[in-house]
Amino acid sequence: MQTELSNRLGIEHAVFGFTPFPAVAAAISRAGGFGVLGAVRYTAPDDLKRDLDWIEAHVDGMPYGLDVVMPARKVEGVTEADVEAMIPEGHRQFVVDTLAKYGVPELAEGEVSGWRITGWMEQVARNQLDVAFDYPIRLLANALGSPPADVVTRAHEHDVLVAALAGSARHAVKHAEAGLDIVVAQGYEAGGHTGEIASMVLTPDVVDAVDPLPVLAAGGIGSGQQVAAALALGAQGVWLGSVWLTVTEAELPSPKLIEKLLAADSGATVRSRALTGKPARQLRTEWTDAWDDPAGPGTLPMPLQGLLVADAVSRIQKYEVDPLLGTPVGQIVGRMNSERSVQAVFDDLTRGFEQAVDRINRIAGRSGQ
Ligand SMILES: Cc1cc2nc3c(=O)[nH]c(=O)nc-3n(C[C@H](O)[C@H](O)[C@H](O)COP(=O)(O)O)c2cc1C
Repeated sequence: MQTELSNRLGIEHAVFGFTPFPAVAAAISRAGGFGVLGAVRYTAPDDLKRDLDWIEAHVDGMPYGLDVVMPARKVEGVTEADVEAMIPEGHRQFVVDTLAKYGVPELAEGEVSGWRITGWMEQVARNQLDVAFDYPIRLLANALGSPPADVVTRAHEHDVLVAALAGSARHAVKHAEAGLDIVVAQGYEAGGHTGEIASMVLTPDVVDAVDPLPVLAAGGIGSGQQVAAALALGAQGVWLGSVWLTVTEAELPSPKLIEKLLAADSGATVRSRALTGKPARQLRTEWTDAWDDPAGPGTLPMPLQGLLVADAVSRIQKYEVDPLLGTPVGQIVGRMNSERSVQAVFDDLTRGFEQAVDRINRIAGRSGQ
């Protein structure tokens, strides 16, 4: 699974892995891919420093990157308290009533939700970058559009390639115009925030729109056949997120959630605003149904919704309240049927890729070439 881009980065496989877990990021890079650590949950710079130190010690000198969630539009001087104050009482009551209906216990006294909006604020992302540029990261990716121009310049001064996710060719062109090095074309099937165009249509659209910039295909990829398909559509590599949730190195807090992911089929997800206020693909649960129900109050825009549900999501996860328990994940969840190590995922990807290429050659009458 080699391409011009993988050769340029000195990696064996053109497989990029987004993960919130340092152990998974390091294992992806050790297995010959390119691990990218999601930084959104690091509101304290020292925590990020600790985990980058850990990656450095466990990556065997292989390259890795960091993913931040930096908003394209700068919002000056808005605090979490200001955003709190904008949440209508009726929505707060809906959260209280829904949790009460399922008997979800309270968090313990003084226990705070691990999931706040602050990681989406530009200053927090900038603090993360101040830490990250002291490490030999090779790639900086941004989830919410092109990073600001000064960040792109700073990354390039540190010899760090800059990538950003795009859900349409129009977004991808903006990234190219902003001087980015790589575009991640993320299709509708993907876990997390996602647009409305499926990978089969999106990948070649983006490849053509930003040529000659390298494009990574994301969304719905979990097998070697799908890697081969992405390269056939013109991608220089693939960017996988969901498959790493159920690897043995992952640290998902809830065993029941892992069971749910392993049992889910490809129709078990929904693109819902329930988690953040922007459409994000996730497991469909009675929680997402409640928010998507026209009889309910409906969701609030980002970042209000994320703040509104932060404690509720932590409580649901901590107490493993089955009907409400979910996570962002893509349609590829239907193929995530057993816990495997990161290395085993790579072995399966490589085998499936070779089989797919052989099959295409056979079908095209090119066997032996
Ligand atoms: C649990 C989860 C969290 C995610 N969080 C982020 C994030 O913080 N930043 C980001 O750029 N992408 C995020 N994504 C999207 C991934 O980077 C990736 O584009 C996507 O998972 C690819 O599609 P797939 O889920 O079909 O593999 C997330 C995906 C998942 C499943």
